[in-house]
Amino acid sequence: MSSLPTQHQRVLSGMRPTGRLHLGHYHGVLKNWVNLQHEYECFFFVADWHALTTHYEDPSMIESSTWEMVIDWLAAGISPGSAKLFIQSQVPEHAELHTLLSMITPLGWLERVPTYKDQQEKLKEKDLATYGFLGYPLLQSADILVYKAGMVPVGEDQVAHVELTREVARRFNHLYGREPGFEEKSEQAVAKMGKKNARMFMDCRKKYQEEGLQDSLDVAKALLDSQQNISIGDKERLFGYLEGSGKIILPEPQALLTPASKMPGLDGQKMSKSYGNTIALRDTPDEIDKKIRTMPTDPARVRRNDPGDPAKCPVWQFHLVYSSQEIQDWALEGCRSAGIGCVDCKKPVIDAVLVELKPIQERAREYEDDIGTVKAIVADGNEAARDVARDTLEEVRKAMGIAYL
Ligand code: TRP
Ligand code: SF4
Repeated sequence: MSSLPTQHQRVLSGMRPTGRLHLGHYHGVLKNWVNLQHEYECFFFVADWHALTTHYEDPSMIESSTWEMVIDWLAAGISPGSAKLFIQSQVPEHAELHTLLSMITPLGWLERVPTYKDQQEKLKEKDLATYGFLGYPLLQSADILVYKAGMVPVGEDQVAHVELTREVARRFNHLYGREPGFEEKSEQAVAKMGKKNARMFMDCRKKYQEEGLQDSLDVAKALLDSQQNISIGDKERLFGYLEGSGKIILPEPQALLTPASKMPGLDGQKMSKSYGNTIALRDTPDEIDKKIRTMPTDPARVRRNDPGDPAKCPVWQFHLVYSSQEIQDWALEGCRSAGIGCVDCKKPVIDAVLVELKPIQERAREYEDDIGTVKAIVADGNEAARDVARDTLEEVRKAMGIAYL
């Protein structure tokens, strides 16, 4: 598996511009991003071209949705000091790499991506028999590979796209990593490790390539990882040399599976705009109070004196996300014995949601009042992203023989 050493790992993820975000996004994705930004170099982007693959007939909402979404990212605690925030279409290198990768990607790989048929079925009212829709997972591969991202935080539904990305990267490296003099350059790089390490490295390589010993591969990788006086270029070469492929120009990313959010919608289904069961991060306290007060509860509790079963009640799911053990015990007991009413039971949930959202809403208001700052943050991110993307494309063009230097 061709991946670069951990210290070079970059995190990349994207979200389609769907407008204002809700608690499902917050608990499922954004909190995860906020944590990652302190540990890794992170790039987060608005996937506006991806939105066009399904909304090409009415793209009018894309631009406003983009700004609303970025405001919510910032309000949720994504910090422009730690992460780069940018817009896909402002970094045209994504499109260039997409075109180049399309040359080497077998049609069958795209037709077999599970989301392809699924989404066409699900969105029957739209004509998705387009070139762009078929190619969309490859565009996602370009999004990832153009930053040589090592880790891609995604939900379960996107794992197949990261898998496709790995296959495309492998194929690319296989086809174009065979630079002139690859063997000699690799041997020279091995020599730089010093006699003892070089011998150990070559032993492991032989054992892996001839006997398929995974342990030997791991040992050699760790050894390579720890070398101080070998350049990144030589390391990329040697990771390929070790595995028997060419130079690794596009490293294979790993999916970083985001655990499914425990945050349900108001009706107990997955929280989603299309179900109309959301609490938006910027709903007012009155709206939130009303939405939770009118949430359905265990249908068996018709009268105040009827005992209930929390397992059949979406409010209980909210307690699991928001309440202390003590309050949970109180709700469980009170529900089963009809000791409390549903209105009582919902009160601490309402309070907890409001407490959670208060600082987020305050920050959102500051950005709403100063959209110039939001745009400047994204302009900075666009530039930082382009700097990285430009370097990758230079390498890619060179490897494919169209650098015209
Ligand atoms: N396809 C993703 C979605 O629909 C969004 C996305 C586009 C993405 N490019 C990406 C996610 C690259 C991770 C990495 O949710
Ligand atoms: Fe649901 Fe609480 Fe009412 Fe029980 S008491 S049905 S858990 S809202």
